[in-house]
Amino acid sequence: MISRYGLPFALTIVLFVASILVLLVAVFISVLNKINMDMVYAAIGIMNVSCWLISVSQFTPFVTGIYFVDGIMGFLFCMMIPFPLLIYVDLIQKGRYHRLYVVIFIISLTNFLFWSVLHFNGIFSFQKAVGYIDTILAAVSLSVSATFIYDIRTGQVKTYLYTAVGYLSFVVFSLIEIIILLFNQNDSSLISMIIGIMTLLIMVVIQQIHDTTQEKHSLEQKLNKKNVEQKQMLIHIVQTLAGTIDAKDKYTKGHSGRVAAYSKEIAKRFGYSESEQNDIYIMGLLHDIGKIGVPDAVINKTGKLTDEEYAMIKKHPVIGANILANITEMPDLALGAKWHHEKYSGQGYPDGIKGDVIPEQARIIAVADAYDAMTSCRSYRKPMPQELVIKEIRDGSGTHFDPRFAEIMLEIISEDKDYDLKEKIE
Ligand SMILES: [Fe+2]
Repeated sequence: MISRYGLPFALTIVLFVASILVLLVAVFISVLNKINMDMVYAAIGIMNVSCWLISVSQFTPFVTGIYFVDGIMGFLFCMMIPFPLLIYVDLIQKGRYHRLYVVIFIISLTNFLFWSVLHFNGIFSFQKAVGYIDTILAAVSLSVSATFIYDIRTGQVKTYLYTAVGYLSFVVFSLIEIIILLFNQNDSSLISMIIGIMTLLIMVVIQQIHDTTQEKHSLEQKLNKKNVEQKQMLIHIVQTLAGTIDAKDKYTKGHSGRVAAYSKEIAKRFGYSESEQNDIYIMGLLHDIGKIGVPDAVINKTGKLTDEEYAMIKKHPVIGANILANITEMPDLALGAKWHHEKYSGQGYPDGIKGDVIPEQARIIAVADAYDAMTSCRSYRKPMPQELVIKEIRDGSGTHFDPRFAEIMLEIISEDKDYDLKEKIE
């Protein structure tokens, strides 16, 4: 019997309040995040235990004037202990022993209904059920212990280690309680058992925090993996598309891929994040997509272009921007296509914008585009010597190119001692 004064009773009340708080918090988080929190069931189970402990204390007769231990509430709380706890253990063990728990659940439920019917029909007092309830609780405890031991042997216990430690402490404290009972002629304050249950509740909460953190981490990892896969797929699709653009011109095979790679390298050295580097890579791949709208005969013409033909060529940035504007999920995609022929001095096309008004990505692609054009074969010339390429970029810095990106391109060229960057990129 727990006295209504002293530590055991105070701890029982603390346990009751704690289980209610844990339950409310768990239900609140579950509803808010639409997730299932296992500890809801553990909290209900421990709340049942604390209600039963209160019912066997001297508190209730003090308040109600009757010995609540003889009351139906104590009986009900005790009978209901196995249900939420079995659900909780089944959940944390991922249903490995589901059948066993279903059997115990049905036996507990049958026992509960059987004695309730007998009691409420005045056939038998529920007090006669005490021995059966104890047996059922012992069966629940032994079954759960057996599965825990099996999981320890197979290493599966690590998925619910904190709860297992809590349960072990509960068992140890309960054994201490039994020893105290034996030495105290069947009279005990139940303090040891209460401490055991409190430890279990604390460990259940720690387990839930651990599981939720792990789950969040694993979800983030899955999401990141999915994002990387999708980005990779997008790059492959865009690379294929870029290949078809380059195929229109026999002299520009691989041009878009190289411009994309050079642009990415410049962006990387300028301090772009990995995600921004990938974005400019895709922009580089698509910078000449507007050439789809220019007749092949004009693109592949070996002789001098007429004014009309040159006007057609000059339309490709706007055609490209219009095509890419359809991809509303990536509104920046069109930046490179539309303005890679603008010049820093404002002498370029299609809009003649200048300086920093030209989007940064387009200024980067402009340098990369010019470098690839100079280092590739054209219908009218062979690749230019490296010294001449350096001179052209240096001369164009501040007029054709943004000086910052021209400088980075020159730095890349200076590292290309064997003048084989183009081959390496391919
Ligand atoms: Fe172009």
